[in-house]
Amino acid sequence: MKKKVILTGDRPTGPLHLGHYVGSLANRVALQNEGGYQPFIIIADVQALTDHADRPEFVRENILQVTLDYLAAGLDPGISTIFVQSMIPEIAELTIYFMNLVTMNRLLRNPTVKAEIKEKGFGDKVAVGFVAYPISQAADITFIKGEVVPVGADQVPMLEQAREIVRAFNKTYGEVFPEPRELLSDIPRLPGISGTSKMSKSLGNAIYLSDTADVVQKKVMAMYTDPNHVRIEDPGQVEGNVVFTYLDAFDPDKSGLVELKDKYAGGGVADKLVKARLVDVLNGLLEPMRQRRLVYATDPAQVMAIVKSGTDSTRQRATEVMDEVRRAMKINYF
Ligand code: TRP
Repeated sequence: MKKKVILTGDRPTGPLHLGHYVGSLANRVALQNEGGYQPFIIIADVQALTDHADRPEFVRENILQVTLDYLAAGLDPGISTIFVQSMIPEIAELTIYFMNLVTMNRLLRNPTVKAEIKEKGFGDKVAVGFVAYPISQAADITFIKGEVVPVGADQVPMLEQAREIVRAFNKTYGEVFPEPRELLSDIPRLPGISGTSKMSKSLGNAIYLSDTADVVQKKVMAMYTDPNHVRIEDPGQVEGNVVFTYLDAFDPDKSGLVELKDKYAGGGVADKLVKARLVDVLNGLLEPMRQRRLVYATDPAQVMAIVKSGTDSTRQRATEVMDEVRRAMKINYF
């Protein structure tokens, strides 16, 4: 049976954290290991440059770091193909053709883009490349005929826009692309360690996949719990308590967790004890990643060789799909 193509990835703008893991990375690894899929993982450096045009070295360094995070998290380069966006010029070419199938108004209505323009404080100085990145992201997915896209919930508007573009293309030029669909995590979006907003590097509230056991311990110990849970005997609030939110997301022992929550709510459980459990759970998840990272981190040349080889084989596929695109568009002149 033909394997379904998975396409997803990240901007290389910093180390990956538990929010990335919960939102998409865990799903990628699980699907990879299921066997019925052919995963492609894009390191979206072109997209990173849409808001870091003046910092190409920063983007460059993060290509290695993000790849290390992937390998540490369990992506197996023997199954999952990791590649760099800018090294596949067919994506840029497809983006240009897609641009004719999207209106300006539709782009400016994309809620993710709108939110990011505000967040990043661009004011009226928004680069064309930035506003247009949903189009380029549609090309990221379709140039390889991606069907399944494991992403966090913030990417749903991108997938909606990609589907619209695919429909417009197929209607105008003939059926070339499958409609991609997002695969969302069952776990709700992870808040940062302060519990207030989403986990993000720029907010300084993240636990990274590359954090040491000590750093994880310090970050967990600094987490807010229930401000009214002053003495151990006081009844504690589980809901909205970020330590429990994390336990919900990561603790494999669900029945033990139910018990702990009951006890905490009834009074008599120290915050320290709940936090200690979370430290154990998180380090249990991260320790195998640390071990795998060790193997690769000492040999960056090997890591880059993995990305190069993934990029080469992706490029091969890209040229085949672009031939088909040009034929469909009747621009295969010579
Ligand atoms: N926009 C995604 C993010 O910020 C990264 C990305 C780029 C992506 N191209 C993609 C995700 C294609 C899925 C599919 O995380």
